[in-house]
Amino acid sequence: MRAYTPETITNAVIEQMSTTPDPRLREIMESAIRHLHAFAREVNLTPAEWIKGIEFMTKVGQMCTPARQEFILLSDTVGLSALVNIMHDKTKVEEATSASLLGPFFRENTPKFAPGEQIARNAEGAEVVLFGRVTSAKGEPLPGAQVTVWQTAADGRYDIQTDASTMDCRGIFITDAAGNYLVRTVRPLGYYIPLDGPVGGLVQAQKRHGMRPAHIHFLISAPGYRELTTALYIAGDAHLEDDVVFGASGDLVAEIKTSDPACPMQGLPSVHFDFSLSRESAADKLTGRVGADPGQITAGNVAAEKPYGSPPPGLAAETEGKKGGILAGLFRGR
Ligand code: BEZ
Ligand code: FE
Repeated sequence: MRAYTPETITNAVIEQMSTTPDPRLREIMESAIRHLHAFAREVNLTPAEWIKGIEFMTKVGQMCTPARQEFILLSDTVGLSALVNIMHDKTKVEEATSASLLGPFFRENTPKFAPGEQIARNAEGAEVVLFGRVTSAKGEPLPGAQVTVWQTAADGRYDIQTDASTMDCRGIFITDAAGNYLVRTVRPLGYYIPLDGPVGGLVQAQKRHGMRPAHIHFLISAPGYRELTTALYIAGDAHLEDDVVFGASGDLVAEIKTSDPACPMQGLPSVHFDFSLSRESAADKLTGRVGADPGQITAGNVAAEKPYGSPPPGLAAETEGKKGGILAGLFRGR
């Protein structure tokens, strides 16, 4: 009977798992075990610390509801979503607009809008027009492309955080014959990711600010092209360089211009951004999106009792009084 040592146990586990018929599952689990064991050895993990880790992951699971995906948030805040996203983006067959995180607030069944329609229920004061073209990598227009947009409302929260039964500040638009899209919306605000759960607890224990720069999400698809999951980040935001989920990148920064002669809706501030899509490869059909509709992953769990993402009392108090700053909207009306 063999006795395991910290050095021999890793290969023993891998040997036992070598019966796995699925070659990709075998490859992933073998590597996961090597790295997990190496991590435990490197930090000399104690039983009490490992129980703490298990308690943490248990809380992450328990926090998930049909409207909330705490595991995606964990993956986002440790940079894993961004890493997987960046690696996946590099596999596209043509140079095209780069991808950015889907995030936990995408929802299926987004309503359809006519070009130029306003997607925010309350658009008073801060309207912005988004316009541009969707093209192939060669610059050919893609008529009939589906452009799904979602963002925070003027109060700095996604609809799903306030009330999962309604839709606001999200819509599907279809490009015209020249590949143009036209969206009327409100200026998004930078905001705290949901910090009221175990992931937020970890972010705060690390003394990170927990903020994303202001952005607008886009999911763009056209037959024969790789679906583009991306976002536009608003120029001038203080957190473009230190996004808590590592999603912002320089090529996706867009400026809000007060009067752009090219804007189809004059008299409103606007963002002009042209998106290009890479042709779809056979492999693209198998790889999936980075992130998902939380409702699809957690269907059947109980609904949340509290609003999703309410900031912890300490942080809310700290932010009180900073009215008018980028955080102001987040705490309005609480
Ligand atoms: C977002 O873009 O909305 C988001 C992404 C990752 C974590 C939290 C929020
Ligand atoms: Fe977002």
